[in-house]
Amino acid sequence: MCGIVGVLGDHEAAPILVEALKRLEYRGYDSAGIATVNAGKLDRRRAVGKLVNLSDQLVHEPLAGKAGIGHTRWATHGAPTVTNAHPHRSGAVAVVHNGIIENYREIRAELAQHNISFETETDTETVALLTHHYLSTGMSPVEAAFAALDRLEGAFALAFLFDGEDDLIVAARKGSPLAVGHGDGEMFVGSDAIALAPLTDRITYLEEGDRAVVTRAGVEIRDEKGRLANRPIKTVSIDNTRVDKAGHKHFMAKEIAEQPKVIGDALAHYLTPENDIHFPEETIDFAKVDRIVMVACGTAYYACLVAKYWFEQIARIPVEVDIASEFRYREPPIPARTLALFVSQSGETADTLAALRYCRDKADTILSVINVPESSIARESDIALPILAGVEVGVASTKAFTCQITVLFLLALKAGELRGHLSSDRRADHVSALRAIPSIISLALDQNEAIRKASVRLSESRDVLFLGRGLMYPLALEGALKLKEISYIHAEAYASGELKHGPIALIDKHMPVVVMAPRDTLFDKTVSNMQEVMARKGKVILVSDDAGIEEAGDDVWTSIRMPSVPPLLTPILYAIPAQLLAYHTAVAKGTDVDQPRNLAKSVTVE
Ligand code: F6R
Repeated sequence: MCGIVGVLGDHEAAPILVEALKRLEYRGYDSAGIATVNAGKLDRRRAVGKLVNLSDQLVHEPLAGKAGIGHTRWATHGAPTVTNAHPHRSGAVAVVHNGIIENYREIRAELAQHNISFETETDTETVALLTHHYLSTGMSPVEAAFAALDRLEGAFALAFLFDGEDDLIVAARKGSPLAVGHGDGEMFVGSDAIALAPLTDRITYLEEGDRAVVTRAGVEIRDEKGRLANRPIKTVSIDNTRVDKAGHKHFMAKEIAEQPKVIGDALAHYLTPENDIHFPEETIDFAKVDRIVMVACGTAYYACLVAKYWFEQIARIPVEVDIASEFRYREPPIPARTLALFVSQSGETADTLAALRYCRDKADTILSVINVPESSIARESDIALPILAGVEVGVASTKAFTCQITVLFLLALKAGELRGHLSSDRRADHVSALRAIPSIISLALDQNEAIRKASVRLSESRDVLFLGRGLMYPLALEGALKLKEISYIHAEAYASGELKHGPIALIDKHMPVVVMAPRDTLFDKTVSNMQEVMARKGKVILVSDDAGIEEAGDDVWTSIRMPSVPPLLTPILYAIPAQLLAYHTAVAKGTDVDQPRNLAKSVTVE
C-alpha cells in the first residue's frame, strides 16, 4: 500500500526521493509524486502509473531543493489520477499519507463552511486543507500540523512539508508504520527501513500516536499525550534491507529459489545442535492452554489452516482459525486459557492488528509469528517469533509462507512435548525429518522445467480448480490464491471431499483440475475424486510422489513429481509446485509477476 519518504538532506532531494520510492514499489501502487522546498518555495510533481512516468516528468520539469517528501499511492478514495496523487497541497503545506482518514467527510463539510473547496476525491486532501486553514489563523507550521492531527480519526502515517521551511518535516503515525532515519547532518522519514536503506542504517521507529518534528539537527518526538518521548535509535542490518533480484527475472522467482536457505535459517534459529526446540522466550506453558485461536489474512491464513492440523494431531489442542477481517467485528468470546496466535509476514496488516488488539486483555497470551521484527504486530504481542525469511518483495507471498509453517510446525512439536502427547523420541524423528527439508525442497525446485511446461498448458485456461484433502486442502487454497493473484486466471480450491457437493458441476473438458495428493493414508479417497473428474473429461494435473503417480495411472493430463517426505511435512514441500505453477503461468501470460494489478504487499488499510 502507499509508501512514504521524506528527506532533509545535503544534496538534491528529488533523485533521492525517487530512488527511495523505487524501494517501496514492492508495496504496490498506481501513482506517485514528490514535493520539494527550493529557495523557500514549495513545488510538486505527480504522475500516474509506474515511477518511470514520474522520472520522465522530472526530466522535463525538474524539481530542485534539498528538502522533500515523496509518495507511492495505492488508490483507496478516488481513482488513480494525477489530481488524486500525493503529495496533496493546499497553500503553504504539502502532505503525503498512508492509511485512511475516516472522518474526512465531516472535516470537508466543516471546511466548506469556510468556503474552502476541494480539488480531489481523496481523504488525504482534507489534511492539507485543514493544516492550511490552521496556518491561516496564524499558527506556526508545527502548531498547524499538530492541530490538524488532533482532528483526524482513522489510520495514518503522515509527512508534512511547508513553504518557506527547508529544514522541517512533521511526521506522525497512528495505525500505519513510519520510521525516522538518522544521517550525518541529514534526516529522513520512510514507511520502512527498506526505503531508507542506502541512506542510513540508523532508524527510530515511531510508536502509535507519535508525532515527530524532524530537522537536520535531529528529531523531537512527542507521544500521543503530547509528552516528549525518547525512542531508541536502532541499527538495522543491511541484509534485512537488501532488495535485489540476484540474477533472477523476478523477485518472486528469487524468493521461491531462496526457500532451502531461509527455511534452513529458521531451523538453525530454533533448533539446538542436540535437536531440541528452543524458543527464545519459553513463556508459553502449553500444558495450561485449552484452546488456540489463530487469526490472519490471505496466505498467512492458509498457514494457520495447515498449523491447525498439526496442533490438533500432534499436541491435541483444539484450534480455531479465523480470517482477521471477520474475527475483528464478530466479537467472539475468548475463554480463559486461550492462546491467541497471529500470523503475518509484514506484521502491519490492518485487520490482523485489529484482531490482535481485540484479544488483548482477553486471551492469556498474545503470540505472533511474523517476518518483520519491528512491525506493529510484533511489538504489540507478548511473544513474537520471527520466521527469518528475509525481505519478501514479490507481492505474492512464497518464502514467508514456508517459513511460517516451518515455525508453526516447531511450535506444534513443542506443544505436543509439553502436553505429554509427543515422546522425545518421536519429537527427535520429526526434527531430523525437518532438518532434511531444505535439501528436499532443492530437489522439488529441480522440477522447475516440468512445472513450467505444465504451466504453459494451464495459461490457456479461463478457470482452474484445485483439490486437496487433509493437510493438502490448505495447500490447494494457497495454490489457487497464488494462481489468481498473479496470472489473473480464475482459480478456486475445494477440499476433495466437497467436489460432489457442488463444484463437480463445473467440470468439463475445458477445466484443468490441480490435485495435490502425496501418497498418504487419504490418497485412495483423492484418487476416487480424481476419477470422477476424469470421467467428466476434466483435465487432471496431479502433484504427487513416485508412488502416487504410479498408482494414479496414465489417464491424468499431466503429473508433477515430488520427492517423498513424511506425511506431516508435505505442506512445506507441496508449497513449491503451487508457487511454481502460478509463477510460470503468469510468466506465460505476460502479467506483472512482482506487482500484480490492484494488489498491495502490506495491507495497512481495512
Ligand atoms: C498472497 C499474499 C496475501 C498476504 C496477506 C496477509 O500471496 O501475500 O494474501 O498473505 O495480505 O499479509 P501479511 O502476512 O503481511 O499479514
